[in-house]
Amino acid sequence: MGPLGTVHAPSSRQLDLRDAAAIHQAVRQLRPAFVVNCAGYTDVDGAEDKPQAADALNHRAVATLAQACDAAGATLVHFSTDFVFDGAAGRPYTEADEARPLGVYGQTKLAGERAVLASPGAHLVLRVSWLHGPGGRNFFSQVGQWLQEERELSVVADQVSVPNRVEAIAAGLATLLQRAAAAEPGWLAARRGLYHFSAAQAMSRFEFAQREAQRLGAAARARLVPVSAQAFAGRAPRPMASVLDSSRLQAVFEIEIGL
Ligand SMILES: NC(=O)c1ccc[n+]([C@@H]2O[C@H](COP(=O)([O-])OP(=O)(O)OC[C@H]3O[C@@H](n4cnc5c(N)ncnc54)[C@H](OP(=O)(O)O)[C@@H]3O)[C@@H](O)[C@H]2O)c1
Repeated sequence: MGPLGTVHAPSSRQLDLRDAAAIHQAVRQLRPAFVVNCAGYTDVDGAEDKPQAADALNHRAVATLAQACDAAGATLVHFSTDFVFDGAAGRPYTEADEARPLGVYGQTKLAGERAVLASPGAHLVLRVSWLHGPGGRNFFSQVGQWLQEERELSVVADQVSVPNRVEAIAAGLATLLQRAAAAEPGWLAARRGLYHFSAAQAMSRFEFAQREAQRLGAAARARLVPVSAQAFAGRAPRPMASVLDSSRLQAVFEIEIGL
């Protein structure tokens, strides 16, 4: 048993979140103090073609999780996204800013958020952005390897958010849960709601790649070429600047997400 007690982490094969009865049964059986939902339909372009599949996981499953947690007296912690914003504000977004998603992925994530926030029990909705970490297969996880190849590397320079290491997100969440578990009953319920859960350093993918190249030194052999997001435009529109302002997290929980 680790510092967080016993942690059950079922795969999608062990617990298919599209199966409402299975969710209720799992929560009844395990009787968890906390349920952390990291699952999602995260194929942003694919969601445009399969809105029902995206809604099933990003919204309906989340609403069921909230119901099951309320019935069992468990606290639901749900991860959401900076893609609920359209990116037009020209400044970092706070929780008070109106969400206006540009695509189906963001719309379904917003519907999931609202289902959790409308539930009567203790809950947290934590918005994160640009995740990367070991085993990941996105730009941030792979650029270090690409930089070591003799090649030209075109990287988007006009789209900005905050790259977040999954280890830093997990550390922030562990701190929060440990505090909640040690606090008097009702401590977390009194602080329930929506929080931006991000590091503070905003940058483009191009700037991230430049930093990686600096870190690698002589091992970085690729030539970096800045390009516009239009060069890699997928089917789904994406926000051009979706930096999350996490001052509420600091003010309420005194937690800062590290780099
Ligand atoms: N990646 C980002 O840059 C980013 C940015 C902002 C917000 N987020 C949010 O952060 C969370 C995690 O994102 P991620 O990028 O780590 O996601 P991911 O790598 O695409 O992983 C998706 C997860 O969802 C699970 N899943 C898929 N279908 C399922 C089903 N039917 N039943 C149960 N579980 C299912 C998968 O489980 P299996 O592996 O077992 O199939 C997997 O663990 C999501 O809520 C996402 O919206 C991500």
